[in-house]
Formats: sequence, C-alpha cells, structure tokens
Amino acid sequence: MILRLVAALLLCFPATLPASSQTPALPPAQSVGWRTGAEAAAIEKRVAALLKTMTLEEKVGQLHLSGRGDGFDIGQIKAGRMGGVMNFVVPQEVREVQEAVRQSRLKIPLIIGLDAVHGFSTYFPLPLGQAASWNPGLIEQAAFWTGREARAAGVNWTFAPMVDMSRDPRWGRVLEGAGEDVHLASVVAAARTRGYQRGGVAATVKHFVGYGAGEGGRDYNSTWIPTSQLHDLHLPPFKASFDAGSMTAMAAFNALNGMPATANRAMLTDLLRGRWGFRGFVVSDFGSITELRLHGIAKDDAEAARKALIAGIDMDMMGNVYHRHLADEVKAGRVPMKALDEAVRRVLRVKFHLGLFDRPDVDVAAAPKLMQTEEARRVARQIAREGVILLKNDADTLPIAAGTNTVAVIGAMAVPEDERVWTDPAGLGRRMVQPLPDALREQLPQGTTVTYEPAFTKACGTAFADKDAALKAAAAADLVVAMLGEDCEFMGEGASRTDLGLPGVQQELLEGLVATGKPVVLVLATGRPLVLTWAAKHVAAIVQTFHGGTEGRAAIADVLAGKVNPAGRTPMSFPRSVGQIPVYYDHLPTGRPQQVRQRYESIYMDEANEPLFPFGFGLSYSRFTYAGARVDRPRVGLDGSVTISVEVTNAGSRDGDEVVQLYVRQPVASRSRPVRELKDFQRITLKAGETRTVAFRLPVRALGFHDDAGVSRVDPGLFEVFLGGSSLAERATSFEVTRN
Ligand code: NOJ
Repeated sequence: MILRLVAALLLCFPATLPASSQTPALPPAQSVGWRTGAEAAAIEKRVAALLKTMTLEEKVGQLHLSGRGDGFDIGQIKAGRMGGVMNFVVPQEVREVQEAVRQSRLKIPLIIGLDAVHGFSTYFPLPLGQAASWNPGLIEQAAFWTGREARAAGVNWTFAPMVDMSRDPRWGRVLEGAGEDVHLASVVAAARTRGYQRGGVAATVKHFVGYGAGEGGRDYNSTWIPTSQLHDLHLPPFKASFDAGSMTAMAAFNALNGMPATANRAMLTDLLRGRWGFRGFVVSDFGSITELRLHGIAKDDAEAARKALIAGIDMDMMGNVYHRHLADEVKAGRVPMKALDEAVRRVLRVKFHLGLFDRPDVDVAAAPKLMQTEEARRVARQIAREGVILLKNDADTLPIAAGTNTVAVIGAMAVPEDERVWTDPAGLGRRMVQPLPDALREQLPQGTTVTYEPAFTKACGTAFADKDAALKAAAAADLVVAMLGEDCEFMGEGASRTDLGLPGVQQELLEGLVATGKPVVLVLATGRPLVLTWAAKHVAAIVQTFHGGTEGRAAIADVLAGKVNPAGRTPMSFPRSVGQIPVYYDHLPTGRPQQVRQRYESIYMDEANEPLFPFGFGLSYSRFTYAGARVDRPRVGLDGSVTISVEVTNAGSRDGDEVVQLYVRQPVASRSRPVRELKDFQRITLKAGETRTVAFRLPVRALGFHDDAGVSRVDPGLFEVFLGGSSLAERATSFEVTRN
C-alpha cells in the first residue's frame, strides 16, 4: 500500500550536481514540535476550554481519520465529525478540505497525514538505503526536505519514521527501517524525527511495537518477544524518536506475546504514557481496530472500539469504527467519558502544538516552487552516493578504468519505465529521473561507448523481452554493468518472500552474462539484503543500493566512474541462504561455539554460520588502517564514562570516507551478553595518506541491558573494545567498570 502510494507520488528529475562530501547547512523552515513553558501551559488551557464546548459527536469526530478515495465524505468535516484526513497530496484538494472545516461549528483544523516515507516530490533512497550512509546529519536533511515539501503541499503529518527492528529480510518492510542494529536504528530514528519536524510535519513513530519480528518473516504475523529483548532491542528506537520530539505514534498490526498491539494497554498506556510520559496521540494502523475481531479478542466492532480506546488508541485510521460505535459505547456507560476526553485532549494538544489553529491554509500557488529545489536535489544526490555499498571488487574492476571502450548496461531496472514520463498526481510539475546509461555517458571519459539492453519486459525481471540481444551486447562490450534487483511488487508492505534470490528470470540472465566471459559488475537496487551467494562467486564486482530515489542512478554512475569513492555500509547482514535467517552480528555466544566445525558444535551441516556480507561492511577504492587504540582510563565507575580513541589512516591513493565503528563486549556478566555490540560510529573523510585520531565518548550507562522484568542494569566487569570498519573489527583494547 505504502509503496503504491509512494510510487504514485514519485516525481523525478535529472541533474548534474557537483561532487561534495560536505553536509550542506539546513535552511530555515517552519519547524514544528512540542512547545514548552508558558506556551505549553497556555495550550493546555485552550484545549480544556475547547473540550468543554464539544458535543459527544464532535469529540468522537476528532478521533476519526478518513482518507481520500472511495467513501470519503466531505460532509463529515462540515459536520465536525472528522479530525484528520490522509492521502491528500494535491494542494488544491487540501485547500478544499480546509475550506470545509470553516463550515463546521467549532472550526477545529484537520491534521493531514501522508506516508511521506522517503520523499514527497524529491525522492531520497529508501530508509534502509539512507541508513547505509551511516550519516545521521544527512539522514536528518533528507527527512527535513521530505517534510518541507510535504508541508508546502498542505500535509502536516507524516506516517514516519518506521523504526521497527528486524533481523529477517524475508519481511518486505525491512526497507522502511534502519536495519538490524539497535544503536544505528536509534540514531537514525532520532535524526529522521528531528528532520521531519524541522521540515514542518509532525512525525509518527511506528509501529508500536514488535511489528518487525513477525514469525517466519510474514507481514502482520504474531511476534513473541521476551521482555528483556523487547527493552534491549525493540523499544530503544521508539524512545529515541520520542526523546527527539515525535508528536505522534502508530500502533502495530501484530499481536505481541498474544496481545494485539491495538489493544495492548500495557504498552500503549502503562509504558508509553506512564513510564515514558508521552503527551502526544497514538493512531491505529489502517483498519486495525476492526481487525481485533479477527485477532479473536472482540466479538464485534463495538467491542473492538471499546478495547482499543481503553488500551490507548486515540485515533482510528480508516476504520470507521470509532465513528460508528464510540458515541453509543459512551452513552451506554461502557466507555467512560473521561477516557474519551483524554483521547480527544491528546489529539487537540498535538494540533495546538503543531500550530494548526494559527496557520493559514495551504498556499496553492507557492507549493510547486518548493518542490525539487536545488538544495533538496543536492541532498538527494549526496545521500544516494553515501549509501552506495561496494560489496565486492575483484582485481579493481571498479572504478571503470580509463581506456574501457564499451560498457554494456543491461537490465530494465537501469532505465525505469514508470519514472521516465511520469504523470503528475500532485499537480506539482512533471519530472524525470536520469537513466543509468545516460548518467554513465555523462560521467565516463569521452570516447567511451555505453550501450543499453533492457533484457526484460519490466524492471522486476519477471519475463524476458529480448535475452539474446542482452547477451550479444554483453559479448560485444569490454565491461558489463547488470542492474538487477527487486522492484514492483517484490518489496515493501505485504511483500514477504521465502526465496531471497533475484526475482523472476534475472538469475538466468546473470548466469548468461557471466558465461560471456566478460567482467560483470552487478548493480543491485533492492528493498532488502538478497541471497547473493552465486553472484559473490561469479561476478567481478557487486554494488548494492536500496533504490536510491530521484538521484539514485546518477549516484551509482558517480561511483562506477570513480567520481565518488564508495563508503556505504551494510545496515543488515546478507545471508548466504534463507535457512540461516535470522543471521545478525550481535547474537549471543553459545555453549557449543563453532570451533573446528564438527558435529555437536552449533553449526549447520550444509552451510557456514557467518553471513555472506556482515553488518557494517562495505569496500572502498581506498584502504584504511587502524593503530594506537586506547582508553583514557583503565577503570571507570558506574556513573562515569570513558573516551576511546584510535588513529585511522587512509592508506590508499584516493581520498575517501571511512565509517569508524566501535563495538564492545562484556565477556562475563550476570547473564549471557552478545558477542559484540555497536556502541558508536563516525563517518569521516580522509585524504589519501592522511591520518586522523577519532575519539568516542562512551557513557557506562550505554553498556547496560534489561533483565526479565524490564529493569535496566550495568554489570561491573571487563569490557573488550573492537575498532574497525565493520562488525568484523579487531579487538583493540579494554577497560573495567567498577562499582564506583
Ligand atoms: C499501513 C501501514 O502499516 C502503515 O505503516 C501506513 O502508515 C498505513 N498503512 C497508511 O498508509
């Protein structure tokens, strides 16, 4: 659903932008967020006063979120029976619903939501691809521009960031998250939340909670998560987003430990409002209140409405269930008026803090000018470049050597059919994306011939258009660039897969290309880590991207041509086979570790334990070395912190970026601890031959973990430190945490 909407909004644009690894400064914009002090107190008074004037029906109306499309009834807005709308992207249509508000008795503004997941008009890489940049500042800017463009079109609320942790690439929605690691995901969650809200739209951190752990990698499926893991792995990115100011949250579809998230009072009320003090509102997922019947915890919609509201769901997304039943439930005394008032109060509070009561309607004439600005496209190009991961590069196949006469680009993914002449649903201007062959022609030295053969009927490669022509073009070239991967319906919501190979007939083509004997560079645009075991053995180079957006193909050309030295890092481990899943770097040790690979060790008989490409991994056209790791003190108390530093040298002959990663392990503690855990990272730029000291300040509280009751603790003892450019980083030093 999300991807279809995203695709419907995809407006792209060719551009030649200067290479720069500097992060441009954020321009001023109308940022939104929680007001503080006297302003917040005044808002509470206004909310209370407004609440007093509202009828029961108007209160229920504030909890009703409806959407553009069939069955949408603008009359409900005029009657004061709708609090929010979604999927309005055309400024003129936004203006119409805003005008309808003025005909209502209380004229309470609408909150206007959209899945602006990785772009509105300018498209950035998929969130997983943004995470691959390991550059939180740039990720914040991508969210900022998404928010700013959406706000200009009248949207004031985005259903993002998705922060669900997942170790299962079978799940199609891993593309919306930041990968397998809780530290990286938390940093990214905070950056995206800040960015959206600085851009002018309220963030919705989602899906609360546990949605990414569906059994078997199947979307919407039940999750079983022990309390300690819930607190160590799944909750921290949500907390990071709330700490960064997220004004709303969305509940998940799934059942968590047997209780559907939409009726999970322990999570929505006791934890979120009670322990964490969240003051914003929680929206259900699409129709998830009525789904409580299918989960088997409500006999009808009235009971579903009651259970959801009492658990802590404030707004009903597209379910019509609150709209139809809540007033009767209150009248019958089954839902206390106090509970209803509290939900309405949270919705109104967000609307006031967002400034909706004070702001004019969307400026229809100004909106197009704010789309795809030079600055937004520059950020899009930079983050697309920084997220490109070089997974393999035998014999320096890349960058494409000077003197290469003919490069054959193969695969319909290289020239996206839809984006080429795109319709204009938002009325904001017709745009195009630059095809890979054109981008390469621009980037490679004059005299290089770039040929192109789509091979398939569509980008997703489910059927051949002309396989022979593709093989012929490859045979006639010096170098083959095969752009393959997942597109169309193969990724995103509702796109779980059990086979993580290249979809359709793409593998057959790849084998044919390799059989020509020409060096093959496999360029991937996917929504998840695929199983690349065959390719890793047979192709010369692998370049991984997660659909780079408006500037994606130009950024790939930058890397292939050597204008940009790649430094993206895998945000998830790449499995060797589906049977290894879940495979992730911060697993626990076992009592039977793999040593000599013999029976009765924790191994597979038919496959290695390790992933094909580990977490945090990515090659460069340079080579980086590490030396002189040290901790500023050998011992530190529980309230203290240590500074860990290391000298990093670019030992290659090109300038380049390195992602310096810090992992720790506590070998002996009161419970078994992971073999290593990422605690910090820095993406740095080093000139060829340059050495820099990189320092990390690590507070001891970051070394803690949760027990079975969800209580956090730090066990004193030895901590080993690993420093390097991936999760395979070498043990470099250690320190001891003492009781104080
Ligand atoms: C369902 C998805 O789970 C959610 O993430 C999204 O925001 C809604 N649909 C609205 O499109």
